[in-house]
Amino acid sequence: MDGLVKGVGLWKTYKLDVTEVHALRGLDITVDQGEFVAIMGPSGSGKSTLLNMIGCLDTPTKGELYIGDEKTSDMSDKELTRMRAEEIGFIFQTFNLLPALSVRDNVEFPMRNLSGKLKPNKTNRVKRAEEVLELVGLTDRMNYLPAKLSGGERQRVAIARALVNKPKFILADEPTGNLDTEATENIIKLLHEVNAEGNTVIMVTHDKDTTHDTRILRIRDGVIQN
Ligand SMILES: Nc1ncnc2c1ncn2[C@@H]1O[C@H](COP(=O)(O)OP(=O)(O)OP(=O)(O)O)[C@@H](O)[C@H]1O
Ligand SMILES: [Mg+2]
Repeated sequence: MDGLVKGVGLWKTYKLDVTEVHALRGLDITVDQGEFVAIMGPSGSGKSTLLNMIGCLDTPTKGELYIGDEKTSDMSDKELTRMRAEEIGFIFQTFNLLPALSVRDNVEFPMRNLSGKLKPNKTNRVKRAEEVLELVGLTDRMNYLPAKLSGGERQRVAIARALVNKPKFILADEPTGNLDTEATENIIKLLHEVNAEGNTVIMVTHDKDTTHDTRILRIRDGVIQN
């Protein structure tokens, strides 16, 4: 199978009472290992729908989707949950940190969802959390609660959390949508550093300034135009 992510003829249809919304209309996509890809397009064009599908949060109504050599479009909820835990790192516009947990505990959290022999013991989980927090430059904030951090720092925590289980790729849905210009630049720079370390990054963005040095996929009415 070519590509780390391969979608062929993807349709997503939402049924609202008697009307149907076709969020994706036969979309094809291939992303290779190690790429940094930006997905751009108007509001409502299907960007989040596509990202959620690649991220195993949702499945297509029609079409085939592969992550590596695993066919996710046919998977059960249980298998999709395992894929999310082991293979995928997510970053959201609104950070989605757990407010009652420290920065260190937020980053440690996804390792608790690993099954069996993939799950490190507590000591190694803390060690790994501290390692990725160092990578994103937050060693001095590990004991803070998220509320005490700036937006840019919160997104760094979210990036550390996305990386902690060594996923096959990182998905980011408008990761700088809630950040000012300076924090945006820093987060994009960090995502490029993460990519330079060998991580594949797929990012939805509205902001042209964030797409320097990236392959851009333009989506419109549920299909990719280029
Ligand atoms: N759960 C849902 N139920 C019904 N319709 C939905 C659902 N999720 C998305 N849609 C519809 O599917 C289409 C694509 O939505 P999607 O969220 O993927 O767009 P988007 O490109 O991410 O937009 P934005 O830039 O505003 O985030 C829209 O018409 C939206 O209203
Ligand atoms: Mg969206």
